[in-house]
Amino acid sequence: MSSSLLSISKLSVSFGGVKALTDVSLDVPKNSVVGLIGPNGAGKTTVFNCISGLVKSDSGTFAFEGVEREFPKPHELVDLGITRTLQGVGLFNELSVIQNVMVGADKNYKPNFMKELFGLSGKVEAGLKQRAEEALAWVGGSALIDSKPSELSYPDSKRVALARALVINPKLLLLDEPAAGLGQDDIDALASLIKQIKRRCSILIVEHHVDFVREISDTVNVLNFGKLIATGHYDEVKRDPAVIEAYLGHTDNPGENSKLGA
Ligand SMILES: Nc1ncnc2c1ncn2[C@@H]1O[C@H](COP(=O)(O)OP(=O)(O)O)[C@@H](O)[C@H]1O
Ligand SMILES: [Mg+2]
Repeated sequence: MSSSLLSISKLSVSFGGVKALTDVSLDVPKNSVVGLIGPNGAGKTTVFNCISGLVKSDSGTFAFEGVEREFPKPHELVDLGITRTLQGVGLFNELSVIQNVMVGADKNYKPNFMKELFGLSGKVEAGLKQRAEEALAWVGGSALIDSKPSELSYPDSKRVALARALVINPKLLLLDEPAAGLGQDDIDALASLIKQIKRRCSILIVEHHVDFVREISDTVNVLNFGKLIATGHYDEVKRDPAVIEAYLGHTDNPGENSKLGA
């Protein structure tokens, strides 16, 4: 389908004897936000790890912009236009905020003395710095440019991690629990930022905050024990008995369904 940005079909992954994913298929249309939800251990991060080349699939197909190809290797992601934020934050503590974002923009960027030996010309570096400043401005992080990660509040460090992912102008952004540990104000700010980002790229998002997922996602996919058990609009899938069962372990009392929102 021409409107599909990412299409994964029948992805299976095992770790030793443990099947982490079994025949998972999912589709991310262009300019859409697709949620990936499910209980802990369901396989959500493993899906991201396959898309970003950190985990090898046993089987399955991968198509990006309508072109079927191998699952990407980590060093191919930037050229394809795929970036991710990690579960947690994952900034380099020895680098300033702006340097952290510049590292996201170019794998050849080497701050400090390494630059003299292997690095980039002053002109290229200035261009990178400008792009990093723009990405930081976009996430509301302009005031943080010269800080070190250790000096940042948790919400600000998440902002910087997001800027580092956005600096390549990705086609596909993978967000692993971006709202985790944030208060409601920061979650609301993130929701409006994601709606802006969606105008420029597609987002596949793993998240536990159900109100947030419902607000931002066009469709959600529900994983349980490595299998896709439901796909559709959030309000549809949350009524699906298989989904209620996965979250609660039983379907006797839908009124208890608080983990899935009202
Ligand atoms: N690198 C790994 N080695 C062995 N087992 C793993 C590894 N990564 C994930 N798993 C297992 O695969 C399953 C899915 O994990 P994960 O994708 O992290 O789930 P989720 O992100 O949904 O919580 C779990 O049983 C987990 O223990
Ligand atoms: Mg996870």
